[in-house]
Amino acid sequence: MPVSAADAVGAAAESLGAKLGGRTPRLALILGSGLGGPAARITAALDLAFAEVPGFPPAGIRGHAGRVIAGPLDGVEVLVFAGRRHVYEGDDPAIVALPVRVAHALGARVLFVSNAAGGIRRSFQPGELMIIRDHINLMWRNPLHGPVAPHETRFPDMSAPYDADLAAALRAAAADARVPVTEGVYAAVLGPSYETPAEIRMLERLGADAVGMSTVPEVIAARALGMRVAGVSLITNPAAGLGPPLHHDEVLAAGARAADHVDRLVRGFVARVAGPAGASR
Ligand code: HPA
Repeated sequence: MPVSAADAVGAAAESLGAKLGGRTPRLALILGSGLGGPAARITAALDLAFAEVPGFPPAGIRGHAGRVIAGPLDGVEVLVFAGRRHVYEGDDPAIVALPVRVAHALGARVLFVSNAAGGIRRSFQPGELMIIRDHINLMWRNPLHGPVAPHETRFPDMSAPYDADLAAALRAAAADARVPVTEGVYAAVLGPSYETPAEIRMLERLGADAVGMSTVPEVIAARALGMRVAGVSLITNPAAGLGPPLHHDEVLAAGARAADHVDRLVRGFVARVAGPAGASR
């Protein structure tokens, strides 16, 4: 068992790199709760459970398949993590961010992340997609805590964590695919209990449009590595106090209903980022 995050990254990257046999993923995609649909379209050069990758812990939560899949998606080499670890599972945030560091080690320089989130903005309906414009880290945890990892910077700038050009690519892909999208601020909390109505009112005042329990550790690690990031939240439910009591099954059901929209958005995005305009940076 690797003893440090850097060892885990090295072991995972070595193992996956050998299986990829010289393929370099252009993009890494971390797909959240029930949002792993695009992975099924990959002509898989590699398809492994997290537990089969050296350094990776197994995924535990229902709806989190926890698979690493690599190969061409509509002709573009991608590395997909279908499912993720969460800090609430008791993992060190460095483990949660491991996929990002491994993707970087394998050559990916663009990260797309998706998640399920509760809608704080009053107009949100379950099934809506929100491009993440910015985030608020209320997990009080950081994957960079500890020694500086290889290729990372100690104090990464977070003034533009979500890349403006990639957000434009998401908007364009959404328009092409006739998938409605909005933009907003994602607040990350530790969980796993859902929020109270008072906490939601607080988050609303802080400027959050949606709330969830993931994504931020991965985005911080990506920025420390200089990767460009795009993110989308699927609003699965009105946040606590704004609708009926919350249940994880509803989150999964909303993911299943929105699967087609997410699929079309992700495919359009990948094609654009890998196309001539996306390749210029
Ligand atoms: N709160 C936190 N995380 C979530 C929610 C929520 O309402 N819905 C889906 N993930």
